[in-house]
Amino acid sequence: MYVCLCKRVSDHTIQQVVAEGARSWREVREQTGCATQCGKCACMGKSVTQDALAREMFGDPELAYAV
Ligand code: FES
Repeated sequence: MYVCLCKRVSDHTIQQVVAEGARSWREVREQTGCATQCGKCACMGKSVTQDALAREMFGDPELAYAV
């Protein structure tokens, strides 16, 4: 799905840049352009980035939030 319509950034694009080494929302934003125009996608972009980072580091995003 598209996360950012202005820059045509999809969730797959964000997952891809995280898989390639991006380790923060700032890095994802810089590499994709997500949320750099109108900014309405910022919350969704951050959320998708956090899930992608959790998946990259822990294999399962649910484990990242486990107590
Ligand atoms: Fe992402 Fe506008 S929808 S910057």
